[in-house]
Order: sequence, then structure tokens, then C-alpha cells
Amino acid sequence: MKKPEIINLPKIEDPRGNLSIIEEENHIPFKIARVYWIYDVPGGQYRGGHAFKEQHEMIVALSGSFDVVVDNGIMKQIFSLNRSYYGLYLPSGIWRYLQNFSTNSLAMVLSSSKFSEEDYIRSYPEFLKFILK
Ligand code: TYD
Repeated sequence: MKKPEIINLPKIEDPRGNLSIIEEENHIPFKIARVYWIYDVPGGQYRGGHAFKEQHEMIVALSGSFDVVVDNGIMKQIFSLNRSYYGLYLPSGIWRYLQNFSTNSLAMVLSSSKFSEEDYIRSYPEFLKFILK
């Protein structure tokens, strides 16, 4: 079974500034269908609070820092993202939310699917039913 994990992305260090890379099906295990980003998050707010039936995602803190709380129905883990060369890979069937956003943080999310509200599970009891099926 696939699980959430941090993927170390390439980092090309340079006195002129560093550079990192994501190639689909190389640095991440899926084809990228969509990119979205979360920014201007007011202090104390959180995002997410849902799971996906099918889509896989990778989350990168392009700027600043935040925590991603992941829950597979049995245990919770917190991944603190604070480097733009770490990608958090999230397979489908994982409840997640993002919290503790620093000022000016920027969360980039790469998704394996186009947006589909039908793919969301927005109720935690429904999520538990879904994963225990
Ligand atoms: P949602 O994924 O619920 O936000 P978060 O989990 O980060 O709190 O999305 C918020 C709103 O934006 C929701 O009405 C759906 C819409 N949305 C799109 O239309 N397309 C997208 O690709 C995404 C990610 C969200």
C-alpha cells in the first residue's frame, strides 16, 4: 500500500541561487494533470480537511512553512514542510489538512487529476467508511 512520504527533490546549488526540479513520472510517481497553489493564508487558518478517492498529490512549500497533518484512518502523522526541495507525496485515501502557515507561505500542489468535486470526501465519518470498505 502506498503511503505519504517526503520525496527529496533535486537541488542544484549555485552561488546565483538554487534550483529544484519536478518531472512527472520521474521525481513524482504520477502524471501531472493540475497545479494549484495556496497563498495569503491569514494567521491561524487551516486548509484542507478532506480526502480524495482517486487523486494523488504532491505538496511543496515553495516559500515559508506549514504543517500537513495526514491521517490514514488508523494513525496521524505531521509533516512540516519548510524547504522548497521537499515534496510531500500523498496517495489517494488519505485525510489531510494544512495548518501553521507562516507569513507569506506558498503551498504548491501537483495533482494527478483535473478538479472533480465527486473525488472529494469531505466528511470524516464518510472517509472512515470509505477506507474500511
Ligand atoms: P478545496 O480543495 O476545498 O480547498 P482546501 O481543501 O484547500 O481548503 O477548494 C476550495 C474551493 O476551490 C472549492 O469550492 C473548490 C474550488 N477549487 C476548484 O474549483 N478547482 C481546484 O482545482 C481546487 C483545488 C479547488
